[in-house]
Amino acid sequence: MAATGAAILEARDLGLRFGAVEALKDVSVRFAAGHVHAMIGPNGAGKSSLLNCLSGFYHPWTGAIMFEGRDISALRPPDRARIGIGRTFQGIQTYPSMTARENILTGFHAMMKGGVFSGLFRTPATVRQEEAFTARAEEIIDFLELEEDRHRVVGDMSYGLRKRVDLGRALALQPKVLVMDEPMAGMSPEEKGDLARFTLDIRDRYGIPVILVEHDMDVVMDISDRVTVLEFGRVIAEGTPDQIRGNDRVIAAYLGDGATGGEAA
Ligand SMILES: Nc1ncnc2c1ncn2[C@@H]1O[C@H](COP(=O)(O)OP(=O)(O)OP(=O)(O)O)[C@@H](O)[C@H]1O
Ligand SMILES: [Mg+2]
Repeated sequence: MAATGAAILEARDLGLRFGAVEALKDVSVRFAAGHVHAMIGPNGAGKSSLLNCLSGFYHPWTGAIMFEGRDISALRPPDRARIGIGRTFQGIQTYPSMTARENILTGFHAMMKGGVFSGLFRTPATVRQEEAFTARAEEIIDFLELEEDRHRVVGDMSYGLRKRVDLGRALALQPKVLVMDEPMAGMSPEEKGDLARFTLDIRDRYGIPVILVEHDMDVVMDISDRVTVLEFGRVIAEGTPDQIRGNDRVIAAYLGDGATGGEAA
């Protein structure tokens, strides 16, 4: 539920450049526990760059990433995944020749204790761990309503279903926060509706806050507790969906002519 908890993840004064492009400039955003928090803004605004800074794929030139109050700026992406920053990417990240269930299980293997050797020799501890993973995979399959499709090869599935499997893999890592870049791009309205429902369930049932980039404004306004608007690498507005809907600067940014909007931020 939309409890205004402490920030679980925080971007502090981020600056990031690619040549002459300032992808991020003085970007500070606090992501609260218990929230669905959407990042919106025109193409090239810096949304994916921000998400990549959160998960460690991009290194901001200035500023810091804080997770549960600790500076994690120096941690590499796998370590950030391990401490609880889960994510899905723009496009599809599943293995097409594997089944839905196998894809979800690969999420667990990313955090298997004991490495390859204990996997080969199957110690009692690894067997127990695998049983726990299998049980949890089944739970995720139920949660994402993939029961009928669990043994289907992902390459044969619709885009929406594949994205759902992708989400299952991210959930397998038992994240403390889930970061999703345009999870609904390319989906039918029905698939979007399903994913919107799952997103709210992830927040409410699992208690996992969700940070997402999304272009579909109806969905954003529907499911978000908080919305941050980026334009040209800067935060130009932040608030509840109602506050954002009525914000002149946001309206101007989305009308796309760059005109008006004032300098109120
Ligand atoms: N790896 C990179 N190399 C060079 N330039 C990059 C790189 N990543 C991002 N940029 C540039 O940084 C700016 C912000 O890009 P970013 O991908 O963060 O935007 P976005 O808001 O996610 O856009 P979209 O809605 O199109 O996905 C753009 O000008 C982009 O070209
Ligand atoms: Mg992007």
